[in-house]
Amino acid sequence: MQEIFQAIKRSAAKIAEAIHQEERGYSHKKNSSGEQQLKLDILSDEIIENELGAVSSVKVLASEEKSEPMLINGGGRYLIGYDPLDGSSLVDVNLSVGSIFGIYEESFDAPNLIAAAYVVYGPRVEMVISTVKAERFLLSDGEFSFVEELSLGEKGKINAPGGTQKEWFAHHKELIDSLFKEGYRLRYSGGMVPDLHQILVKKGGLFSYPGTQDRPKGKLRKVFEVFPFAHVFEKAGGYAIDDRGERILSQRVNNVHETTPCFFGSKYEIETVKRFYERTK
Ligand code: AHG
Ligand code: MN
Ligand code: MN
Repeated sequence: MQEIFQAIKRSAAKIAEAIHQEERGYSHKKNSSGEQQLKLDILSDEIIENELGAVSSVKVLASEEKSEPMLINGGGRYLIGYDPLDGSSLVDVNLSVGSIFGIYEESFDAPNLIAAAYVVYGPRVEMVISTVKAERFLLSDGEFSFVEELSLGEKGKINAPGGTQKEWFAHHKELIDSLFKEGYRLRYSGGMVPDLHQILVKKGGLFSYPGTQDRPKGKLRKVFEVFPFAHVFEKAGGYAIDDRGERILSQRVNNVHETTPCFFGSKYEIETVKRFYERTK
C-alpha cells in the first residue's frame, strides 16, 4: 500500500501548487468565479487520476467528480474512493480545503475500508494517514515529514454543527444547544477537512452533519468523505456514528454517491448524540 500513499503525496504537492496558481488566475478574472472553481475541481481530479491510475495495485478509482467508478487494472487489489477537492468553493475566500481518500478491498462497503488519508491545504499543507493508527505529516521542502500520532481525549471543547439550521429536526437542535450551554465553542468553517482536522488535532469535540427535513440522508457522501473520516476517527480513539447511533464503519453502499447523516467526535460527545437521538427511535 506504500505506493498508494506515495502517489497521494505526489498528488497533494501538485494540487497545493495548482491551488496557488489558480488562485492567482482567479483574482485576475474576479467575475467568472464559477468556471474557475470547476476547473480546480477537475484539475485536482485529473492529477489524482494520473497518479493513482499509474499504481499497479489499484483496481478501481471512484471520484466524487465522476458519475461512475473507473476500472484501472483488473488484476489490482485496491479500490480507491476520493474527493479531489473538498470545500472547493472556499478557495475564493482563501479558507482551507482538502482532498480525501478511502482505500478499500473487494467493494466500497465500509467494512472493506482498510486505510484512509486526507490532505489539508491551509497556511500549511498537512496530511493524515490512518492504517492501524492515525498519523499526521507536514509538507516541507517537497517532503512530508512525520509530526505526531493523533489521539483523541474523552471529551473536547469544540462544536462544529453542519447543515442548515432552519431544516434541523427539533431533537438535533436540542443536542447542539445543549452542547453550547455546556460551554462548547463554535468552530465551523464549512469545509469538513479543516473542521474535522481541528477536532483531531485539538483532541476532541463534535462535528455533525445531520439528516435534515429537506435532506433526510444528509449531504456528505459515504465513500468519498464519511467512511474515510470514520476510519481516521476510530484509529485516533474517537467515534463515528450515524443518526441511528450505529457505527459508520458498518454501513454498506449501493451507489458510490450515496450520502449519510454523520457524527464524528470523542467519547463524551458521541454518547451525548446517542442520548438525544435515542428519542427518535
Ligand atoms: P464539496 O466541496 O466536495 O462539494 O463538499 C463540501 C462539503 C463539506 O466540506 C462541508 O462540510 C459541507 O459540504 C458544507 O456544506 P453546506 O455548506 O452546504 O452545508
Ligand atoms: Mn466533498
Ligand atoms: Mn469535492
